[in-house]
Formats: sequence, structure tokens, C-alpha cells
Amino acid sequence: MTEVTWTRMEEGTKADYERLAPLFEDHARGSLVDNLAGLLRMLQGPKLGYQVDRYEHSLQSATRALRAEERIDLVVGALLHDVADVFAPDNHSEAAAAMLAPYVDEQTHWVVKHHGIFQGYYYFHHLGGDRDARDRYRASPHFDACKHFCAEYDQNCFDPAYASEPLETFLPMMEEVFARPPQVAGVAGLDPTS
Ligand SMILES: [Fe+2]
Ligand SMILES: [Fe+2]
Repeated sequence: MTEVTWTRMEEGTKADYERLAPLFEDHARGSLVDNLAGLLRMLQGPKLGYQVDRYEHSLQSATRALRAEERIDLVVGALLHDVADVFAPDNHSEAAAAMLAPYVDEQTHWVVKHHGIFQGYYYFHHLGGDRDARDRYRASPHFDACKHFCAEYDQNCFDPAYASEPLETFLPMMEEVFARPPQVAGVAGLDPTS
């Protein structure tokens, strides 16, 4: 493979970037599901005082969504809703949502982005906080969906006796979701409106 002759991006030509862009895209997309599965596996181990580790929590979340016959976007969203704990522990909801944004429907993105504050309904008050902090989002069309997500696919997913599906069950769903044309505003060639 021919490498570019320059070391500073400002020196690249249109022809350079037209050749480089698909190389990156093919590489990034080709390894995305494997990389995300690897991040999920990094949640294995520490239970942090709960009865299950965060890997089992994630599988349980996705399994409950799957068994409730939720759409594929939400099942994948459930599987990955806590994956950003690995690299963004203090804003894991927003980080996971940003990662999912180009590929999933708007409601799944919103639910993942806000699940942290909605999950707070179950424990913020025990720590001196406001369990109703989620109420600031009452006007959102996705409020009920996020409330439902936390009630049915998050706060209840700490059960060591629950028979979760293995990660392999969800890999084809991840492959399908992350094979979609990305919806990224403002990026030529990626933005369907450009
Ligand atoms: Fe979370
Ligand atoms: Fe969670």
C-alpha cells in the first residue's frame, strides 16, 4: 500500500484524501463490532458490591429487551448502554449514546443518553440527591421510553439467577446495526443530506 509523502495533513491533496477516506472507513467499520465486544468483555470481573459484574448486567439488560421483543436498535442499545464505563466512567451515558448515534434510531439514542439520570430514580434519594431529577425531561417524547427502559431493562438487571443469553446471541444484531450507513451530520460522503 502506497503511503502518503507528507507528515502534515495540511499538505494533503484532494486525491490523497479520496484514497485515504475509504481505507479508514473499511478498517474502522470492519473492526467495530469486535472492538465493542472487547469493550464489553472488559466489564467482566469486578462486581463492585453487586451480585453480578457489569458484563452480566449488560447481557441481562439486552436479554430482557430481546425477550420483550423490543426492536433491534433497543436490544443493541441495552447491550451497550454501560459499555462506556470502560473509558468514560463519569459520563458513561452520554459517551455510549454518542458512539451509537450514527447507527441507531433517535429514541434509542435518547434513551441511552439519559438512562443514567433516569436510573437515579432508584437510588439518588439514598445519597442525598433528587430521585425525580428525570422530571426535567417530562416534555420529551422519549420520557416514557426511557422510564420503561430503566424499569424493565436496567434497574432490575442485577440478578445472578437470571439466565442471560451469551454475547454470541447479540453479535449478529450488532453486525446488522453497525453495518448501516452512518448518519453523521456535516461529514461529506457520510451525511445523506450532503
Ligand atoms: Fe448506566
Ligand atoms: Fe445499567
